[in-house]
Amino acid sequence: MSSVVLVTGAGRGLGLEFVRQYATDGWTVLATVRDPDRAGALRAVAGKVSVLSLDVTDPQRVVELTRGLAGRPIDLLINNAGVYGTASNRLGELDYHAWEQVLAANTLGPVRVTEALLDCLRAGTRRKVVSITSLMGSIGENNAGGSLYYRSSKAALNAAMRTLAIDLGHENFCVAVLHPGWVRTDMGGANAPLESSHSVAAMRQIIERLTPGDTGRFFNYDGRELPW
Ligand SMILES: NC(=O)c1ccc[n+]([C@@H]2O[C@H](COP(=O)([O-])OP(=O)(O)OC[C@H]3O[C@@H](n4cnc5c(N)ncnc54)[C@H](OP(=O)(O)O)[C@@H]3O)[C@@H](O)[C@H]2O)c1
Repeated sequence: MSSVVLVTGAGRGLGLEFVRQYATDGWTVLATVRDPDRAGALRAVAGKVSVLSLDVTDPQRVVELTRGLAGRPIDLLINNAGVYGTASNRLGELDYHAWEQVLAANTLGPVRVTEALLDCLRAGTRRKVVSITSLMGSIGENNAGGSLYYRSSKAALNAAMRTLAIDLGHENFCVAVLHPGWVRTDMGGANAPLESSHSVAAMRQIIERLTPGDTGRFFNYDGRELPW
């Protein structure tokens, strides 16, 4: 039987590339998107790919996803869905509602999905949970300021995943966070130096090598460990 990966935010960008590469390698891919009716590129991917509906900020849709999976084994969860946010980050103009929305997608979403899928992950053989974070979530590397909503959401994601790593340590889980590099996607923009195919191929190598001994670690896409 092939290994099973569930990818959130799989309709475009890094998520779509994860689907392409795992499907090419023969994995069974559970690809979740907010709007399955607008998932043309995803549906064009050859292989064992199922398109499932999920908005990671919507508790009801998380419950429905879990119910539909009915305890089906999942070997690897990739919490990829994320937003940068469009509101102003300038002091004096902060939009607290917009900040909450970024936290809902980037921090609460991955925790909510991981918690909901724990039994599916326990039934799998690999017990790996990988969340796509950002170097901008590193407090130690923050020398530039700005991007308040995004930085704080990814720093909180890192803290949350480090905690889940410890809490699930006795069950042989590996919970890790990966920075994909600066990648040419809708979020990364046209000036980003990395192709998504390159970033995802490199992250997949790290994911493949992860063992329970790596739980709670923060890696760059090239395998370098990053400061919290
Ligand atoms: N690109 C970079 O340089 C870079 C650098 C560091 C970290 N990252 C991280 O890498 C991950 C992927 O980013 P990307 O560059 O591929 O961005 P992207 O091209 O903007 O794609 C973001 C994906 O997340 C999905 N998404 C957003 N909010 C969601 C929600 N509430 N529920 C479910 N799905 C949701 C989007 O779905 P829709 O199509 O429905 O909007 C889309 O599939 C993100 O976590 C991002 O923070 C990217």
